[in-house]
Amino acid sequence: MSGFRQGIKNETCPSPDRVKVLSKGTGPKELYVKKIRNGTVIDHIFAGHALDVLKILGIDGREGHIVSVAMNVISKKQNKKDIVKVENRELKPGEVDKIALIAPSATISIIRDYEVAEKTRVKLPDSIRGIVRCSNPACVSNAEPVEPKFSVERQDPLRLRCYYCVRIMEKTDVLKQF
Ligand code: CTP
Repeated sequence: MSGFRQGIKNETCPSPDRVKVLSKGTGPKELYVKKIRNGTVIDHIFAGHALDVLKILGIDGREGHIVSVAMNVISKKQNKKDIVKVENRELKPGEVDKIALIAPSATISIIRDYEVAEKTRVKLPDSIRGIVRCSNPACVSNAEPVEPKFSVERQDPLRLRCYYCVRIMEKTDVLKQF
C-alpha cells in the first residue's frame, strides 16, 4: 500500500515488555506492543477510549483471541492515544462503522503475515443509519419497521439526534446497546 509503511514508531516507553526496532531516523525507537502476525490493529483511538472500542466489538477476552491494549501512549504527533490489537481476527465492514461512533479518529489496519494488508481511516458521517436504535421507547423507529436514522451533531463527545423523535443520544446511550 503506497503511503502506508511498516513500522518505525515514535512511541517510547520504559516498559520491560518493550520491543526495540530499528529506526529510519536518528536512533532506536520502541513499540509499546509488539507487532502481530495476523489480525487487526485499531490505532489512533482517542486516549481512554480503548475499552469502549472492545465493548463495541463484543470482545471481552472470553473469545480466546490474544488482545493487546495500550492506553495513553504518546503518538507521533505527541498527543496521547490508545491502541488495540486483536490477533487472528479481522473486522467485518459493519464493525468499522460501529468503531467510528466511539473512535472517529481511529485507523484500522488488517495485518496478514506481519504486513499491513489493508488500512482504513475511520470516518463518522454526518448521518448514520441502522447501527444503533433510538433510546426513546416511544420513538416510531422502535415500533414500526423503519431503519433508525440519526444526525451526528457532535463527534467528541458523541451527540446523535434521532431523525424521527429528535431524542439526543450520547456515548453512554450508544454503549448500552453493545
Ligand atoms: N502493526 C502491528 N503489526 C504488524 C504491522 C503493523 O501491530 N505486523 C501496527 C503498527 O504498530 C501500527 C499499525 O499496525 O500501530 C499500522 O501500521 P503502520 O501503517 O506500519 O504504522 P504507521 O505507518 O506508524 O501508521 P500511522 O501513520 O497510521 O500511525
